[in-house]
This record gives sequence, C-alpha cells and structure tokens, in this order.
Amino acid sequence: MQTQVEILKGKKTNVYGYYDGMLGKTFVVNKGDIINLRFTNSLQQATNIHWHGLIIPPEMDGFPSHVTGPGGTFKYQFSINQRAGTYWYHPHPDGLTAEQVMKGLAGFFIIRDEEEAALKLPTGDSEIAFVIQDRRFKNSGDFDYAPTDEEIMTGFFGDYILVNGAYSPYKDVKAGWNRLRIINGSNARLYNLAFSNEQEFFVIGSDAGLLTVPESVKNILLSPGERVDLLVDFTQEVNKEIFLQSETFNGGGVQGKDAFRIMKFKAGPKTNETFTLPNTLSAITKINPSSATKIRTFDISNASMHGEKKMSMDQKEKNKMKMGMHTINGIAYDANVINETITAGATEIWEFDNSKGDEIHPMHFHGNHFQFLERIGGRGKLIATEKGWKDTVLLMPGEKVKVITAFSQFKGKYVLHCHNLEHEDSGMMLNFEIV
Ligand code: C2O
Ligand code: CU
Ligand code: CU
Repeated sequence: MQTQVEILKGKKTNVYGYYDGMLGKTFVVNKGDIINLRFTNSLQQATNIHWHGLIIPPEMDGFPSHVTGPGGTFKYQFSINQRAGTYWYHPHPDGLTAEQVMKGLAGFFIIRDEEEAALKLPTGDSEIAFVIQDRRFKNSGDFDYAPTDEEIMTGFFGDYILVNGAYSPYKDVKAGWNRLRIINGSNARLYNLAFSNEQEFFVIGSDAGLLTVPESVKNILLSPGERVDLLVDFTQEVNKEIFLQSETFNGGGVQGKDAFRIMKFKAGPKTNETFTLPNTLSAITKINPSSATKIRTFDISNASMHGEKKMSMDQKEKNKMKMGMHTINGIAYDANVINETITAGATEIWEFDNSKGDEIHPMHFHGNHFQFLERIGGRGKLIATEKGWKDTVLLMPGEKVKVITAFSQFKGKYVLHCHNLEHEDSGMMLNFEIV
C-alpha cells in the first residue's frame, strides 16, 4: 500500500510497502513449506511480485506482463523445494520496476533447512537481516526519482544510504559472533562492504545459500540484486562502536572512488561466547561442464545506446525511446517475444560478454540458480560470494563470465536481465522459455 513514514527527521516521505510501512514483512519459511498468499494491489498502477531466487513455476514468478491492476488481487501459491538461503521479493512490472522498488517495494524471503540448522549458526538477536538502498530526497521529504537520460545510462544514484528504510541507523549487537544477511536492494549502486575497525569477517553464503566453507575476507563487493550471508566476531569490540561502510573499489569508473558509512553497530558487554566457526558449511556438487548441451552467449558490451548509435537518432526518437536505451544481444526487451528456448532439465553454459563494454552490469535470471565457471578479463578470479550457488553475477567493464546451470522442469516464460533497474526498465532484459 501507499503510506507516509518519517525517514528524515521532521519530514514525511510517501512510500510504497507490502504492508503499512515501507518495504515488506520478512518471510521465514522452511524447505518443504507450501506458500499461500493473497495479494491485493492498492496502488494506482499495475504491479506484481517477483520472488528473487525462488525456483517456482513461471505463473508465480512475476513475469513483467503478468501484472495485477489497481484494486485487483492475485493468489501466489508455490512450494519451497530449494536450499536454505537469503532470498527476496520485489515488483517486476514491465517498465515500472525501478520506480516501484525505489518507492519502497522489497522484502526478505528467508528459507531454512536441516543442513543449515545442524550448523547452529548465531540466531535470535544475533541474526540480522538488512537491505541497503540509496535514495535521493526532495525538500518536501519525498523521494526524488526522475532519472534523466544520463541517469538511465549509468543507473540512478542516491546520496542517502538507507538500511531497512532507515537513514543512518544504529543497531545494538552482541559482543560475540553475529550473522548478517545483507541484500543490495539499490537500483544501481555497488557497495564494497567492510567494517570500520578493518576486522576480518567470514562469508558463509551468497545468493542461494551456504558456501562449502567459510571464506575469510576484509571486504566484499555486492552489486544490486546480490546477497551476502556473513559471520562477524565482535568479541574484541566490547562496548565499542563499529561502522559498516563501503570502501573504495576499482573497475567501476567513478562509482567506487569514495568510501562512505552505511550503519553503526554498538557492541554490548562481554559475553560468554560458545559459538565456534564451522570448518565446513554445505555440500555443493559441482556441475560438470562437459554435461552442458548448449553454450549461449549474451553480448552486453554494447548494451547501451550511447556514442554513435544514440547520436544517429533524432531528438524526437530519443525522447520516446526509454525502452531501447539498453539491450542484450542488441535487442531491447519486448514482453511478447521469446528470445531463447530451453529444454526442461537441460544443462547449459551461459556466457555474459562485457569485454568491450564500459558499463557495470549485474546480470540475473529467474527460475534457476547457477554456478560460476570462470571470469575472463577485468578482476579475473572469483570473489568469496561467487563460490556458491548464485542467481546474480556482476560484470565490470572488460569482463566476460561463464556460468553453468541445470534448468528446472517448470515450463514457461522467465526473464534474464540486468539488475541495474534503470538498465532493466530501459530494455536490458529478455525472455527465455523452458519447453
Ligand atoms: Cu530481483 Cu528479475 O529480479
Ligand atoms: Cu529475480
Ligand atoms: Cu546493466
């Protein structure tokens, strides 16, 4: 629904939410559960819900043209047959996704399973889920979202970083081990997450659940749509303040040049910590590349229509064409076209080629998880979050990435798109049908 909340002191912001506030309730479900949800659209525009990272039938997945109009209702019904992980939900209507997410539509969908439960990871007050989003505000207090042509090219960036809808928040944490599940729910901004005390932390999971082993890092890059599940030990930080911040990073033009703070943690008094970091987390069977029956290449090097291509259009053409400012394989999104046809159950290698590109593209597809095979060019090696099951993969300019997936048996239409939401809404999406 649409409502008003106070984000900046003394100001009211009109927001959308999946209940009476910004964002949505956090679902916590178990593998094997059956989900039954009645969704009513009380907005003035059409919308739908996409369950990002869930492997569910296409009719339930929020296909861009499968929307519920103002006042309409829809029943989302699906069962949970996938591993534990930090998944999420947000709208996906053709051309309106960026704006609706910006106004506040997003929420957590956490799945638990027995394999994870056996690890006895920190829980209760020590299991913290938060979504990071950047926003721009008008003087009135409302979100300022009116991307220019230039901002559709780069993606839209805000100068206020919100965490779970709050600006500059702080959280009391245990002076011991804490588990943080983080979504980058921003339209376009990347975060290179680190703690202000420069301490190491352990990546234990990414988009689609646990890694095989914890990976020690001091920072982790998270692009829009991606999730990280991490453990951090604040035993040495008794009664101290620690900031979660974004460090500078390379490879992203001007985007990564400034460090900034995201939120503050305040560690409590000394505790009797009994948790010890497990040596192994999850059994992940590697998909054998030789089992792939097809390799598809998606060219995203020329995803944006700038430079010569854009110059050759007249102003009138440009104005009417937000759709078409971005493409995959040179084609802008059309909800009625099937771009790729895939056999149910087939194993395929998908190659995303940004080797000649100059933009950042976090590529994501619905209805399946994938494993990373390799990154060629740019940053080269994989980062910690890329060593488990994924649904979103970051391509910096100059990079080419190969992933492998075994498609599900659910037949029907899903989408592949850039999770930079301005890119997505301006055409950087395609349909694939499982037959
Ligand atoms: Cu979170 Cu199709 O996206
Ligand atoms: Cu998704
Ligand atoms: Cu993109």
